[in-house]
Amino acid sequence: MRTQAIRSWLFFALLPSSCTARDLLAETLTAFENAVDCKSCHALLVPLKALAELGNSAFVDTIVTLCETLKLEDDDVCQGTVGEQGPIIAQDLRQISLSGQTGTLICDAVLGLCQAPAVNPHTVPIPEAAPANPKVWNSSGNAPFQVLHFSDVHIDRQYTPGSEANCTKPICCRNFADDTSTPTLPAGPNGEPKCDPPVSLADSMLEFAQQTGSSANFSIFTGDVVEAAVWLVNKSEVTNDLQDFNSEMAAKLQAPVFPSLGNHDVAPVNFFPRNTTSNASDFQWRWIGSEAASQVDHLSGSYWKMAPGMNLRIISLNTQYWYKLNLGLYDSDTLQPDPNGILAFLVESLQATEDADQRAWIIGHIAPGHVDALHDQSNYYNQIIQRYKNSIAGQFFGHSHQDQFEIAYSDYSNQQAATAIGFASLSPALTPRSGNPAFKMYDVDPDTFEVVDIKVYTTNMSDPSFQTTPTWELYYSARDTYGPLVPSLTATESLSPAFWHNLTEVFAKNESAFQIYNTFLSRDGAVVACDDTCRNTTICGLRAMRAENNCNVVMPGINFSRRHVRAPATAGRVYDLGCEGSGVGNIMQKLNVYLSSTSISSEITAALRKRLESIDSSL
Ligand SMILES: *[C@@H]1O[C@H](CO)[C@@H](O)[C@H](O)[C@H]1NC(C)=O
Ligand SMILES: *[C@@H]1O[C@H](CO)[C@@H](O)[C@H](O)[C@H]1NC(C)=O
Ligand SMILES: *[C@@H]1O[C@H](CO)[C@@H](O)[C@H](O)[C@H]1NC(C)=O
Ligand SMILES: *[C@@H]1O[C@H](CO)[C@@H](O)[C@H](O)[C@H]1NC(C)=O
Ligand SMILES: *[C@@H]1O[C@H](CO)[C@@H](O)[C@H](O)[C@H]1NC(C)=O
Ligand SMILES: *[C@@H]1O[C@H](CO)[C@@H](O)[C@H](O)[C@H]1NC(C)=O
Ligand SMILES: *[C@@H]1O[C@H](CO)[C@@H](O)[C@H](O)[C@H]1NC(C)=O
Ligand SMILES: *[C@@H]1O[C@H](CO)[C@@H](O)[C@H](O)[C@H]1NC(C)=O
Ligand SMILES: *[C@@H]1O[C@H](CO)[C@@H](O)[C@H](O)[C@H]1NC(C)=O
Ligand SMILES: *[C@@H]1O[C@H](CO)[C@@H](O)[C@H](O)[C@H]1NC(C)=O
Ligand SMILES: *[C@@H]1O[C@H](CO)[C@@H](O)[C@H](O)[C@H]1NC(C)=O
Repeated sequence: MRTQAIRSWLFFALLPSSCTARDLLAETLTAFENAVDCKSCHALLVPLKALAELGNSAFVDTIVTLCETLKLEDDDVCQGTVGEQGPIIAQDLRQISLSGQTGTLICDAVLGLCQAPAVNPHTVPIPEAAPANPKVWNSSGNAPFQVLHFSDVHIDRQYTPGSEANCTKPICCRNFADDTSTPTLPAGPNGEPKCDPPVSLADSMLEFAQQTGSSANFSIFTGDVVEAAVWLVNKSEVTNDLQDFNSEMAAKLQAPVFPSLGNHDVAPVNFFPRNTTSNASDFQWRWIGSEAASQVDHLSGSYWKMAPGMNLRIISLNTQYWYKLNLGLYDSDTLQPDPNGILAFLVESLQATEDADQRAWIIGHIAPGHVDALHDQSNYYNQIIQRYKNSIAGQFFGHSHQDQFEIAYSDYSNQQAATAIGFASLSPALTPRSGNPAFKMYDVDPDTFEVVDIKVYTTNMSDPSFQTTPTWELYYSARDTYGPLVPSLTATESLSPAFWHNLTEVFAKNESAFQIYNTFLSRDGAVVACDDTCRNTTICGLRAMRAENNCNVVMPGINFSRRHVRAPATAGRVYDLGCEGSGVGNIMQKLNVYLSSTSISSEITAALRKRLESIDSSL
């Protein structure tokens, strides 16, 4: 009935001047109201595409008006986010046919209304078959060496102690232009749960890591330097933030750092165009000013380098080319199995590794089994690691902000220790938005380059001394905590894919063992209760380095409270587990959920009508 009401006020109030633009605004609103599943999402794309065809500003102004009037976000957030990312979606819509698979992908990633389409079969070209007698990598029992793993620092260089730490924007702890009231919760000097961290917190982590890992041979950093104020970020800020963090790591860590790009390390956020796009030439890679720079340029942000003095090749991938929220991937109906040649680069690098009797580590931002990974590229990635499993000694990612892992299998329909062929370690984040700030340190076998222990270090934000001097300490050792749960692990074995598979078997049988993992996810900082159904889904996710197997289903009418999880009552604060921040997709999903489930008051209707009329007159 409410749908009828809105439809009628728009038609009857606006139609008299018989302008098609007016019909379009009414149709857009109705389509948002009616979009509850994949089919009706495709119907919603019709007026959205028509709006986009009227121009970027018609598209942006309509979404901003709805966002502001319905108070889905603060006005500056609506304007900044939609203003930055809206034109990219408008351009995508102008270039695709609405019945095709790209439309379904947009309805999955941006609107949360379609399940990911079935994988498009593709055999990744691989130059040589696996050797009949692959090199055997045996440990000679030498003492392990150390590697530090940092991720998702999201440093906020405008963090302001004393500013509001409990605001209504996606991140707080800044002097925002529209916020003039006295702070209800003044930000402490070293970080707050609803904020990205100040430089002081990043410095304290790097200083502690250098001290504790003073013998570390190198570090890896798996992306997301820039804070999540996505509605304000611009190119010069991203460039400066990357340079500043590079210099800080160089100054505080003695050993070399191998970085990867994250989805926030670009402006507009989440826009990594394909090289088949006309806009790609405006695009510059700004990460490493080193000898790997020409590879980075050539390969859209990926490169490889040898670890210092070792037979170990570090292959760093720009995983944004398998990121489902990379709005640069949806600008054509032509399927591209390997955007920008990232997978071909991986094959080439692993073949070279095998030919040279070396081993490889793969590092990147988004793990291939994560819910944000596109199923096609994840499937193709798994073909590659299956072929080169003998050469790959480790895989390392970030993005989720949580302390997680993923296992790859030669046969996902027969998941057991014997078919486990790969293991990826996901680093927790520095940013306190998803729990206590943390990083990992690995003990690595110098003969095999396999991980023999993972130590997680954290600082406890609830500790009263945190705001004076953050104290970092060992949170747990995977070998000490999980090893005894898998008694078949021998003292000399590495933490192999089979070990991690066996651990998931323990998690499935032993509730209290699983709850240890669930607590570790956020370093005890934002623990979310996980019942038996949740435990099954979580274990399914651990056993899925291939996204099509991770048991994630898109739930139309997405529950935003899923992403905003309450911390333990003692902390009394809300943590944000989201990785994307409040992007344009988030705003469009809120709009859809709001319009399809809420009765709109007559005051809001009147305000909307007035503002849409003013857009209409400018069309
Ligand atoms: C891409 O380039 C075209 C033409 O230069 C421009 O109109 C469009 O806004 C650009 N799109 C983005 C997302 O920057
Ligand atoms: C590696 O270890 C296996 C079994 O542990 C053994 O059979 C093999 O001879 C060893 N290879 C080398 C090169 O040491
Ligand atoms: C970019 O953002 C920075 C930091 O927010 C700001 O100081 C600067 O004025 C912005 N530059 C442009 C060109 O908007
Ligand atoms: C895109 O990049 C891939 C990999 O580098 C390359 O093979 C391809 O030729 C490029 N395409 C265009 C249009 O530049
Ligand atoms: C790690 O660095 C130490 C100190 O520089 C060196 O002695 C050791 O050989 C290195 N480890 C490896 C595996 O290269
Ligand atoms: C963090 O500190 C709080 C307050 O001192 C304490 O209650 C809590 O147990 C600590 N958490 C951890 C993981 O040590
Ligand atoms: C894992 O379990 C399998 C089967 O139960 C066993 O054969 C294997 O030794 C175990 N491996 C490790 C590392 O625990
Ligand atoms: C279950 O896990 C806990 C660790 O939380 C361990 O103490 C206990 O021994 C395990 N139970 C069994 C039957 O293995
Ligand atoms: C979880 O998985 C186990 C094993 O597959 C199954 O027996 C159990 O019914 C599942 N529990 C729930 C709540 O789905
Ligand atoms: C959304 O989450 C809230 C809080 O967890 C819950 O009460 C509500 O039923 C959920 N709604 C849907 C549609 O799942
Ligand atoms: C933050 O603000 C919300 C909404 O005003 C309020 O419910 C909550 O208690 C506040 N949290 C803290 C820690 O002050």
